[in-house]
Amino acid sequence: MFDSISPAPPDAILGLTTAFKNDPNPHKINLGVGIYKDASGVTPVLNTVKEAEKRLLDDEQTKSYLPIDGNAAYAAACQRLIFGAGHEIVTGGRAVTAQSPGGTGALRVAGDFVARITPDATVWVSDPTWPNHPNIFQAAGLKVATYPYFDPASNGIDFDGMLAAMRTIPAGDVLLLHGCCHNPTGVDLAPAQWQTVAEVAAGRGLLPLLDFAYQGFADGLEEDATGVRTMAAHCPELFVASSYSKNFGLYNERVGALTLVAQNRQAAQAALSHVKRCIRVNYSNPPAHGAAIVRTVLGDPELRRRWESEVTAMRERINTMRHLFVETLNEKGVTRDFAFIARQRGMFSYSGLNPEQVKALRQRHGVYIVGSGRINVAGMTESNMEYLCEAIAEVLRD
Ligand SMILES: Cc1ncc(COP(=O)(O)O)c(C=O)c1O
Repeated sequence: MFDSISPAPPDAILGLTTAFKNDPNPHKINLGVGIYKDASGVTPVLNTVKEAEKRLLDDEQTKSYLPIDGNAAYAAACQRLIFGAGHEIVTGGRAVTAQSPGGTGALRVAGDFVARITPDATVWVSDPTWPNHPNIFQAAGLKVATYPYFDPASNGIDFDGMLAAMRTIPAGDVLLLHGCCHNPTGVDLAPAQWQTVAEVAAGRGLLPLLDFAYQGFADGLEEDATGVRTMAAHCPELFVASSYSKNFGLYNERVGALTLVAQNRQAAQAALSHVKRCIRVNYSNPPAHGAAIVRTVLGDPELRRRWESEVTAMRERINTMRHLFVETLNEKGVTRDFAFIARQRGMFSYSGLNPEQVKALRQRHGVYIVGSGRINVAGMTESNMEYLCEAIAEVLRD
C-alpha cells in the first residue's frame, strides 16, 4: 500500500530551513522560519528559563501523567497574563484553560471542539494568514474561508473590506484574529479598529478565536493584550490560543494553552468537559516540562520581573532592526519606499519582494525568504545587515 503513495509537499516554511542548512554560502541569512535570534544570530535559552529549570530539576517528585487539561496553576497564570489579574472573566470563573502542546495544539483543540459542537461552522481567516491556519481547521473537518485584511497599496489594513466581509458572516461562524504581531504581514489593528471589530463581531453573533502567539513582541505584554481584552469586553464567548514558544523562547518544549470564555461559570465548565474529550482522543494529556517552566517564572515575582526584561530586550532588538533595515536600504540607494517596515510590529513583515526576487536572493546571495515575500526581521543582525541590504539592492536593480 505504501509503495503507491506519492510524496506530500514539504512544509513551505520548515522546508526552507532544510535548504538553508545545506547551503554552503558563508554569508547565508535565514529570514524564513519564525524564530527569534539575538544580536549574534542565535536563538537563546532565556536566563529565567534556565533558572526555572534548575529549580524544577531539584524539586520534581514524579513524572506521573498530568490531568487531561494540564496543570491548574499554569492555567491560572495563563488567564492572568491574557486578561490581567482580577479581571471579571477570571474571578467570575467564566474562563477555562487547557494546557496544550504549543499554540498549534491549542488551535487544533479549538478546531476539534467547534467541529464537535457546531460541525457546520466555517472558520474565517485573514487574507493572508499563517499558512498553517487553514490546514489545522480543515484537518479538524471544518470549512475555512477568508476575509480581506492586507492592503498591498498602503502596506496597511483594508479595514473597510474587512468590515464589509464580516457583515456577511453568518452567526455562529468562527472569526480568527491575530491578537498582535499579525503573521505574515506585521500589520495590526489599532485600538479603535479593535473596538469596531469587537462591536461588529458581537452584533453578528460571531465566535472570535484569538491567536495569541506573540504577546510582548509588539509594544509590551499589557499593551499587546488590548485586542484580546477589547474582544472579550464585547463578545460573551470566545477562544484564546496562547503560545509561549516565542515570548519564553520555548519552541521545542511545545507549550501553549487554549482558553475558552463562556457566559457564566456553569457554561464554561460544560464546555471544558468537551474540550477534555477532544484532548483525550488526540494526545491524551499535555507534556509537562515547558508549562512547568512558564508556571515557575510567572509564579515568582522576581523571576517574572526578570522575564519581562528579557521580553523587552527581544522586542526592542526587533524594533531596532526594523529601523536599521530601512536606513541601510536607503544608504544602499534603494529608491523603493520600505518605510512601512519600521511601522510594523512583531517578527514578520511582507517585504513586497516578488517570487522572482525572492528566488534571486536565495540563488545569488544565500538570503532565504518565504515565497510570499514574508521576512523574519528577527533574523537580521547588525553584522548581516550590510550584506542583506546590498543583496536586496542588487536584486531590485535588476
Ligand atoms: C500566528 C501563529 N500562530 C500560532 C503559532 C504556533 O506556535 P507554536 O509553535 O507554539 O505551536 C505560530 C508559530 O509560528 C504563529 O506564527
